[in-house]
Amino acid sequence: MSDSIHLTDNRTGKSYDLPVTHGTIRAMDLRQIKTGPEDFGLMTYDPAFMNTASCMSSITYIDGDRGILRYRGYPIEELAAKCTFLDVAWLLLNGELPNSEESVEWAHKIRYHTMIHENLKKFMEGFRHDAHPMGMLMSTVAALSTFYPESRDVKNKQSRKMQIMRLIGKMPTIAAYAYRHNLGLPYVYPDNTLGYTSNFLSMLWKMTEPKYDANPVLAKALDILFILHADHEQNCSTNTMRAVGSSQADPYLSLAAASAALAGPLHGGANEEVLLMLDEIGSLSNVHAFVDKVKAGQCKLMGFGHRVYKNYDPRAKIIKQTAEEVFKVTGANPKLEIAIELEQIALRDEYFIKRKLYPNVDFYSGIIYQAMGFHPAMFTVLFAIPRTVGWLTQWQELVDDGEQKIARPRQIYTGHDERHVGQPVEEHAVSVAR
Ligand code: ACO
Repeated sequence: MSDSIHLTDNRTGKSYDLPVTHGTIRAMDLRQIKTGPEDFGLMTYDPAFMNTASCMSSITYIDGDRGILRYRGYPIEELAAKCTFLDVAWLLLNGELPNSEESVEWAHKIRYHTMIHENLKKFMEGFRHDAHPMGMLMSTVAALSTFYPESRDVKNKQSRKMQIMRLIGKMPTIAAYAYRHNLGLPYVYPDNTLGYTSNFLSMLWKMTEPKYDANPVLAKALDILFILHADHEQNCSTNTMRAVGSSQADPYLSLAAASAALAGPLHGGANEEVLLMLDEIGSLSNVHAFVDKVKAGQCKLMGFGHRVYKNYDPRAKIIKQTAEEVFKVTGANPKLEIAIELEQIALRDEYFIKRKLYPNVDFYSGIIYQAMGFHPAMFTVLFAIPRTVGWLTQWQELVDDGEQKIARPRQIYTGHDERHVGQPVEEHAVSVAR
């Protein structure tokens, strides 16, 4: 049996054999299917990319029906249990886990790219005191582009490596500055004697003490959360990173666009929405009534559902375990009770079962972040820091992929046929003004 599909066009009676590889036909192979020489050729219509692969990728594997997530072949559960976030970043970017020498050198290099230019700090000071930190983050990342004009040379491998290290190093610094700005606190400079997450916690929470000692349980929990959020193949923000990157825009601009996509409530912004939803529910006694509202289509159960996972999101499972460790230090978040009750009811309810709606990564992450002391507006920023690694890995793959070109979908035009302006526009404007 050959790996092809046989199609007959009933409009013309002609038949075609199209090759099938990886369970996929190439959309361009359809273009030969025409009703006549004037016909453009057959296209596919796929709003929201429900059934379209936009790239070949060897980075992240998801089996949504079985709840499997792997980076470069390694199960997420093993990476979360045995690796540090920076080692996982290396794995994603380079395809293999680092050996101990590579691991030390990599951590050292990232550490030495944590500082940001003083002008960038001043730029951030220009935001209103109550500016949303996600807006500050994405604008500041875009502004970074003006500091590193050499980054426009996206074909230059050495330059690419440098921009990747800069972005991974500077994201926590920018995020922490945004956080301190909201609170009216002075900025804290990076401390290069600390690890990636301990340094981030120091930049967030250091007050007058000469050195900030992050609680190791919280620093470890954050490291695990960062591993879980590092990549998730062709999601909305990664697709944005690739789409903008395909125009050969520099990585700072592409990454700013990707963070804009992440900010939306249906994507990374959902973690903030979950907390707002739990606030709205308020107490256990209101959970049933809220679920009824969801079933009546009046609102969504935020943190539930996923385009790809039609089973429990494996990241949500690990987050639940991590939450227990965090709560031993911080005390339980009273919202947890409501979240667990909501999950229990939803998982037993026909509405959610039929639609295969399970908790996703965002359902519990906000509860941990809040217990750690973050306000909800910071949650998506905490997602963007580790996802920077995924965005950059996918961008690097895109730039090296000879098959990729500028991303430019087709459309089906449904507007007017040619028509003509009756009265000259200027004359019309004057007569309206009179
Ligand atoms: N609450 C209630 N109903 C839902 C939910 C939800 N959270 N999610 C989906 N549904 C329903 C839809 O109304 C639809 O029902 P219908 O068939 O009766 O019309 C059905 O389930 C299928 O949903 P779609 O919207 O078609 O699924 P899609 O794959 O387009 O959307 C998405 C996925 C955006 C994640 C959606 O589930 C959602 O909005 N969830 C809430 C927001 C959220 O948690 N986002 C974070 C996702 S994870 C991440 O991005 C990091």
